[in-house]
Amino acid sequence: MSAPRYQTPLRYPGGKQRLANFFEELLKANPLTGGDYAEPYAGGAGIALELLRKNAVARVHLNDASRAIFAFWDSVLNHTESLVDLIQNATLSIKEWRMQREILRRESEFDLLSVGFAFFYLNRCNRSGIPNGGVIGGLRQTGKWKIDARFNKSELVRRIEVIASWKSRISLTQFDAEIFIKDRLPKLPATSLVYLDPPYYVQGNRLYLHHYAPEDHKRVAALVQTSIQQPWVISYDTAPAILRLYATQPKRITYGLQYSAGQAYRGREVMIFSEHLNVPKTSRVASMNRSLSQLTRRVRERSTMACQAP
Ligand SMILES: C[S@@+](CC[C@H](N)C(=O)[O-])C[C@H]1O[C@@H](n2cnc3c(N)ncnc32)[C@H](O)[C@@H]1O
Repeated sequence: MSAPRYQTPLRYPGGKQRLANFFEELLKANPLTGGDYAEPYAGGAGIALELLRKNAVARVHLNDASRAIFAFWDSVLNHTESLVDLIQNATLSIKEWRMQREILRRESEFDLLSVGFAFFYLNRCNRSGIPNGGVIGGLRQTGKWKIDARFNKSELVRRIEVIASWKSRISLTQFDAEIFIKDRLPKLPATSLVYLDPPYYVQGNRLYLHHYAPEDHKRVAALVQTSIQQPWVISYDTAPAILRLYATQPKRITYGLQYSAGQAYRGREVMIFSEHLNVPKTSRVASMNRSLSQLTRRVRERSTMACQAP
């Protein structure tokens, strides 16, 4: 697979952009190409944006409960010039990092643009993009990689401007996923595809600002399986509790995944499909697995370059 020309500007632990090819095949196999596509847990929205770029879908509906993530996407779409200015003039220093971290910690006191930029700044300057991951290079900046290692201003601005040019095809909301499923999804066409990527059962509380307790996963499982009218796909870590919650869904794929999130994390993920979805044949699925092994290889290469890959 050639490297995608476009990438989400966010670094996301477990970001799924590399599965976009598989989703394109899934859309073709059903056929849902050219329709709407919704992500109740959008995060870095890697797949959605890649599907838009390829015109595999007409419109994407991005939702995330995190105000910081919403603020970032809102800034990209609705305050593009101001966000670009902030990025171009950003000072990459520990003093500035501390200031941006403070804004994120007290986000309710700040406007969406300030919070969106602070989230982006920490996402690009922290190890693996984790909000609480610590700054690349450490506070004393003695590591091989420094705070600016992942902050290529012109490339990041380019990605943001490309996404902003698709504004009319992107709808953005900040609901709890359960509200989005109950209130928003019924308003979308029956031919939409819904992809749910909730926080992991096991690692979720370490990786994201918002995460779930076991009873939340249980409630979501019931809601997804009883109330979503459109075809849906959900991906998770293969925790036994998750496999039990979706035990009656026979269509599923498990695949290996390894990515760096502070420490290299090896795991298996499961993708579960709603009953009437045609899942692409295994040869096609192999391309998804290739994407995943490329991801694995890339992360391995990175982590051998420095003891703390940024
Ligand atoms: C696994 S990440 C999604 C990653 C995304 N698929 C990507 O490729 O970047 C899970 C996301 O769900 C969001 N989230 C957590 N709890 C939520 C909730 N109750 N409702 C909506 N979003 C939630 C988190 O903020 C996080 O961005």
